[in-house]
Amino acid sequence: MVTRLSLLDAAWELGPQVVADRRYLHQHPELAFQEENTARFVADRLRELGIETRTGIAKTGVLGLLRGGQPGKTVLLRADMDALPIDELNDVPYKSLNPGVMHACGHDAHTAMLLGVARLLGERRDEIRGTVKFAFQPAEESQGGAQPMIEAGAMDDPRVDAAFGVHIAQDRPVGTVALGSGPMLAAPDGFTATIRGVGGHAARPHHCVDPIVVAAQCIVALQTLVSREVNPLRQAVITVGSLHAGTVRNIIPEEAVMQATVRTFDEGLRRRLAERIPALIGGIAAAMRAEADVRYDFGYPALVNDPAMTDLVREVVRETLGPDKLIEAEPGMVGEDMAYFLRAAPGCFFFIGSRNPERGLVYGHHHPRFDIDDEGRCRSASPPSPARPCAT
Ligand code: NI
Repeated sequence: MVTRLSLLDAAWELGPQVVADRRYLHQHPELAFQEENTARFVADRLRELGIETRTGIAKTGVLGLLRGGQPGKTVLLRADMDALPIDELNDVPYKSLNPGVMHACGHDAHTAMLLGVARLLGERRDEIRGTVKFAFQPAEESQGGAQPMIEAGAMDDPRVDAAFGVHIAQDRPVGTVALGSGPMLAAPDGFTATIRGVGGHAARPHHCVDPIVVAAQCIVALQTLVSREVNPLRQAVITVGSLHAGTVRNIIPEEAVMQATVRTFDEGLRRRLAERIPALIGGIAAAMRAEADVRYDFGYPALVNDPAMTDLVREVVRETLGPDKLIEAEPGMVGEDMAYFLRAAPGCFFFIGSRNPERGLVYGHHHPRFDIDDEGRCRSASPPSPARPCAT
């Protein structure tokens, strides 16, 4: 009979295959919506296991359907497949063979682990009550492959009752699992504001409208939205990460362009800031005789873990790995498009620790020396660093 502990033993036996798959994928990274080879690798493997497989979903997504031997509910398990535009600096036998492209966030591990789960469950299908969907999605890092996969029917036929996903966490000790319920990751929205003034000689500002000074006023005022207009018990971040204007010191330019990220958990607050930011920038620009154009971009929604499904994961981690391996995680302001799956069905997205200072595996996500302890079993835990996992 299949029990959690017997599955765990069988999973350890699959470990070397999962590591080999992860290293193969690490050597062959592909950017968002270009995961052709990865999708082929995944689909071939699923078909080998006799799992019904659909390809070409949301361009390069793959969906596997495992019908268990007994009736029951449907669970979706999700992995992301895309890599990042980074030149790998690691000197390892499985270093990226695609110059300028690197699995620097751990999505190679997510894909390999989900293939391991597909094998684990595929070999025991007669004993499974219900249906398992394996969703291998493209493009988590930027454009978002989850929503187009859902639009293509990933949650339907049969209807998904619960969804689960994991992310490698390089700020957590290898062998640990970190999770929390409720809003856990933020909605990563943003905007581009173009301030148009009147250019001219830097020594004759009275003949000009200086867009740099207007932009400076806007940036300071934007910070007051968080400090003065957001309930102190709610969370929001506005960061202007880019400001471009001008060419040389003695010219007042025609325009200044700023780009910013805006992060929230609460949907009402999210909508409120999307109204207030353009209004504030427009008002300041008008008061200073400039014009402003704000293009607001809504990103992924906030990722919200269902309390009951999170409790289920907690219980499984305690029973299989031990209570000392369970970390209660605080919410973070990075974004994740798993949020779309968790908006469509209750579920839980949690973090698997991969940091191991003893092996020098300490570089954070999106770093050119990022690498994980993929051989790690439940080794002794070291304290987590303050760094946060993967960001969009
Ligand atoms: Ni990631």
